[in-house]
Amino acid sequence: MEKLWGGRFCEETDTLVYNFNASITFDSRFYEQDIRGSIAHVTMLAKQGILTDEEKEQIVKGLEGILSDINEGKLEIDTTAEDIHSFIEGTLTERIGSVGKKLHTGRSRNDQVALDMKLYTRDEIVATKNLVRDLLNTIHGLMKEHVETYMPGFTHLQKAQPLTLAHHLGAYMEMFKRDYDRLSDIYKRMNVCPLGSGALAGTTYPLDRDYTASLLGFDGPTLNSMDGVSDRDYLIEYLDAMAIIMMHLSRFCEEIIIWNTNEYKFVEISDTYSTGSSIMPQKKNPDIAELIRGKVGRVYGALNSMLVTMKGIPLAYNKDMQEDKELTFDAIDTTKGCIKLFDGMLKSITFNKERMYNSATGGYTNATDAADYLVNKGMPFRDAHRVIGEITVYCINKNCAIDDMSIDEFKKFSELFDEDIYEAISLDTCVRKRLTIGAPGPDAMKKVIDINEKILGEL
Ligand code: ARG
Repeated sequence: MEKLWGGRFCEETDTLVYNFNASITFDSRFYEQDIRGSIAHVTMLAKQGILTDEEKEQIVKGLEGILSDINEGKLEIDTTAEDIHSFIEGTLTERIGSVGKKLHTGRSRNDQVALDMKLYTRDEIVATKNLVRDLLNTIHGLMKEHVETYMPGFTHLQKAQPLTLAHHLGAYMEMFKRDYDRLSDIYKRMNVCPLGSGALAGTTYPLDRDYTASLLGFDGPTLNSMDGVSDRDYLIEYLDAMAIIMMHLSRFCEEIIIWNTNEYKFVEISDTYSTGSSIMPQKKNPDIAELIRGKVGRVYGALNSMLVTMKGIPLAYNKDMQEDKELTFDAIDTTKGCIKLFDGMLKSITFNKERMYNSATGGYTNATDAADYLVNKGMPFRDAHRVIGEITVYCINKNCAIDDMSIDEFKKFSELFDEDIYEAISLDTCVRKRLTIGAPGPDAMKKVIDINEKILGEL
C-alpha cells in the first residue's frame, strides 16, 4: 500500500524502521471509529462547500462499503499498511478512484488519531460503566439478602466488632459507586472534539468544527489546536479510574481468598469458579480471585507508563504518543474482563452463615459494648476501657467469653455491673444498637439499601 507521505523521500524506508514506526497491528482496533470520523469530516466539508455533494456521496458510500466489508470479513486489514488511517484512505482510493484522495482535505493524522482514540475510549468508558453497574446490582442483591447475617468485622485482620455481611458488602458498594461516578466525570470532561485541530495549528479551510463535533456526539470542539492534538489527559484519567477499580476488586478478592481458607470457611466458591491441583487431589483453589488480584499490576503499570511517556513531551504531537494505544487497550481488556469474572464469581459464592455467626461471637468482639455499658452507668470512658481490658485478660486466662462470666465475677471488677450486662453485650444488641446512618444495625442498613436502590434505578 502506498505511503501517505512518499513525495518528500528519495530512498525507501529501512524495513526495521518501517516496522518499528508502524501501528497497524494495534490501531486496526478502531477502524470503525476511524471511518465514523471520516464520514463526519467529509459531511462537514461538503456543507462548507469545500467538497461537492457528489464527491461527499462517493466518499461516504466508499467508506460505508469498507466498513461493512471489514465487519463481514470480506475485507482483510492489510498489516503492511503503516496504520489504520493509511489503510482506509488507501483502500478508499483503490475503490473509488482519485476522489478518495480528497478525504484528507483540512485534516492531519494528528487530529484524526486524537479523534479516533477519543471515540474508541468513549465507547469503552460506557462499556466499563455498564459492567460496574452490573456488579453494583449483584452486590445490592446480596446486601438485601444478608442484613441479618452476622459476622466479625476486622481491623489489622484481628476481630474487632461484630457487624453484618450486608454492612461488609456495603463498603464495596460505596467503592464501586465512586468508580461509576469517576467514569462518568471523565466522560464529561473528555467529550470535546479534537478534529479540525489539523497538524497543530488548525487550518485555513473554513471548517465548521461545531458541526463535526455535533455529528459525532461531542459537546463541542476543543478550544486550542495544539492541545487538541496532544492531550492524552483523558487516557491517564481513564487508566487511573481502571487502576482504582482493579484495586477495589483486588481487596475484595483478597478477602474472599481469606474467607475461603480451611481456617475461616466463611464462604465456598462454587466448582465452576475454582480450579484444582495436578498433584494434591483434595485441593480446590480460588485461582480466579488470585488472578484478578495479580492482574492489578498490569493496569497500574499501564497508568505509570502513560504518565512517564507524557511527562517530557513538548507541544504539540510527537510520535511518543503512539505508545498510548497498546497499554490502554491492554488495561481496558484486563479491567473489563476482571469485573465480569469477579461478578460471576461473587454470584457463585455461598456464605456459611453459621461459621460467620460463631466467629462473630468469639474474640471479644463485644468488649467495646461492655465498656459502653459502664459508661452508661456513669463511669468515664477511659476508666471503663481499662476495666474491660482487665476483664479481657481474665477471660483469656480462663479461656471463656465475656458473656460466660457470672455476675459475681463481673462485680469483682466493678460494682456497676448488673444482670442487664448480658443483654447489653449480646451479639444481637451489639449489632442492632448501631443505628447511626452508615452503621451495621439492620434498621440503619435498610435505609442505606433504600438509598442505593434509588441510585441504581437511575444508572
Ligand atoms: N499512528 C500514529 C499515532 O498513533 C498516528 C499519527 C501519526 N502522525 C504523525 N505525525 N506521524 O500516533
